[in-house]
Amino acid sequence: MSQLQSQVVLVTGANRGIGRAIVAGAIQRGAQKVYAAVRSLASATALTSEFGTRVVPLHLDLEDPKSILEAAKSAPDVTIVINNAGILQTAGPLADNAVASLEFQINVNVSGLLRVAQAFAPILKANGGGSLVQLNSVASIKSFAQAATYSASKAASYSITQALRDELAGQNTQVISVHPGPIATDMANQAGMADIAEPPSLVADALFEAIQKNTFHVFPDTLARQFGQAYSGYAQAFIEPLQQAVAH
Ligand SMILES: NC(=O)c1ccc[n+]([C@@H]2O[C@H](COP(=O)([O-])OP(=O)(O)OC[C@H]3O[C@@H](n4cnc5c(N)ncnc54)[C@H](OP(=O)(O)O)[C@@H]3O)[C@@H](O)[C@H]2O)c1
Repeated sequence: MSQLQSQVVLVTGANRGIGRAIVAGAIQRGAQKVYAAVRSLASATALTSEFGTRVVPLHLDLEDPKSILEAAKSAPDVTIVINNAGILQTAGPLADNAVASLEFQINVNVSGLLRVAQAFAPILKANGGGSLVQLNSVASIKSFAQAATYSASKAASYSITQALRDELAGQNTQVISVHPGPIATDMANQAGMADIAEPPSLVADALFEAIQKNTFHVFPDTLARQFGQAYSGYAQAFIEPLQQAVAH
């Protein structure tokens, strides 16, 4: 597999879970370099031990705008930005902490995406367009009551992803929205979905195929595909057609 031979990939939340599988998938597909963007540089040691010098750790915290701008300065050659990092808190709409939980997840899952897009869009443009990939969820299109605040944040990040797709078309940047169901990571364990979770490599495989085929929506696993099939008519009619190509 060498489909990423001339590509430089950056993955947020690269140290574990789906992010780690994306780093592995990029290396397997021959990426020239993979920036492993992590909150703690020490957490990337296992990645560099396993994959060698093609993995370059970078500090990036989605809550810290300065760290994102610094990471962008350190990665002027990036061509594929994958904003994978995210957090889940299980809070229903009537929980005492619902408002605080929503605000926290909006800051990381939604404002974090905006910060990443704003910092990296000019670099992708300078490098010919490239790709911006956002890890959304099946919860972006259906609220789960016990994780209502998480679902709301993932609906909002999906909405922003759609806007970015239209906005960045003018600079030839491909934008992709990935919507996994339960995937076997710490997050799925925390949400009590370990029994039905599928391997993170499924997400990496589907995401890199979407980059190749230029597919906007990605539904990587069994449950996600059921969502994707039911949603496809609406998506094809109203979401997937580009609204406008804005020149920048
Ligand atoms: N697993 C699922 O079932 C599932 C389903 C649908 C969508 N997703 C989405 O897929 C993405 C990855 O999920 P996962 O299951 O791999 O999660 P995970 O196992 O909980 O890992 C989360 C990753 O995000 C990083 N992170 C958390 N807060 C951050 C911040 N403020 N700045 C930068 N990085 C931060 C974590 O870094 P630390 O190690 O430093 O904490 C970690 O690398 C998320 O966006 C999630 O919403 C997951």
